[in-house]
Amino acid sequence: MNQDKLQQQIKQLAAEKNALLIAHNYERDEIQEIADITGDSLALSIEAKNTDKQVIVFCGVHFMAESAAILAPDKIVVLPRADAGCPMADMVTADGLKTLKKQHPDATVVTYVNSSAAVKAESDICCTSSNAVSVARSVKAKKLLLVPDRNLGRYIASQVPEKECICWDGYCPTHDQLKVAEIKQAKAENPDALFMVHPECQPEILELADHICSTSGMYEFAAKTPAEKFIVGTENGILWRLRKENPTKQFIMPSQCLVCPDMKLTRLEDVLQCLETLEPRITVAEDIRIKAKQALDKMLAVPRD
Ligand code: 13P
Ligand code: SF4
Repeated sequence: MNQDKLQQQIKQLAAEKNALLIAHNYERDEIQEIADITGDSLALSIEAKNTDKQVIVFCGVHFMAESAAILAPDKIVVLPRADAGCPMADMVTADGLKTLKKQHPDATVVTYVNSSAAVKAESDICCTSSNAVSVARSVKAKKLLLVPDRNLGRYIASQVPEKECICWDGYCPTHDQLKVAEIKQAKAENPDALFMVHPECQPEILELADHICSTSGMYEFAAKTPAEKFIVGTENGILWRLRKENPTKQFIMPSQCLVCPDMKLTRLEDVLQCLETLEPRITVAEDIRIKAKQALDKMLAVPRD
């Protein structure tokens, strides 16, 4: 079946099943094209919580659909590809976190949403890349355990020098690969370009940035900044909307490595099948869900800076 036909069928079936199609900013172009909403992890969690629709088709990776299932237990949440995970989220387990907490009983655990429900359940508060600094500032404790991304952790630590920060040693295999030499070369070739970057990149990369932000933060920055050229320090799925919303501007990928294989797993055929069967369904055991929801709700209550 050709792409247009598949997209039409998906939209029709989504309407019949009262389903909301949501897609992360890194999904394939053809998936983002048919989504009711595209966004970063924070925006998508909020949409999942607030929608009146009965079914949420989450085109993204497992932890994102799990967050939707935690926040909206009365809805059916489906993830078109059950094998779409996040290697960084898998770098911390609830048992590992429990051990670290025992070593630092006076610390508050701030956990990036890129984590399992079981890890969130062991956490005091969650954060995303768009609110991480506000969340860290909102916490009263002087000592923070920042889990699981060491790069986001080090970025947060640089913004809250008044706190002691202990970072879990996890990382995103996609963002962590970006090299200083690649950014320097892209800048040398495009001296008039601004460099915007995701905080999952290494600190040496963030030092070279004009703007550090979440994926959705990049749409805002590109739209409101008069600059005509941008070097993009995040996964290449972001280009579709950047180019659509800013047709006269130029967006440059500094490296071939900025592809998340998990985000690219979902295809239109998977979305159609998932709508037909309402499987694979994402659920969370109620005891874990309640605790994980507390950490997410605390995050959602933090005002943005
Ligand atoms: P955002 O919250 O910025 O969308 O990032 C999610 C993610 O997985 C980045 O790699
Ligand atoms: Fe996880 Fe990195 Fe992929 Fe984001 S880009 S989902 S952090 S592996």
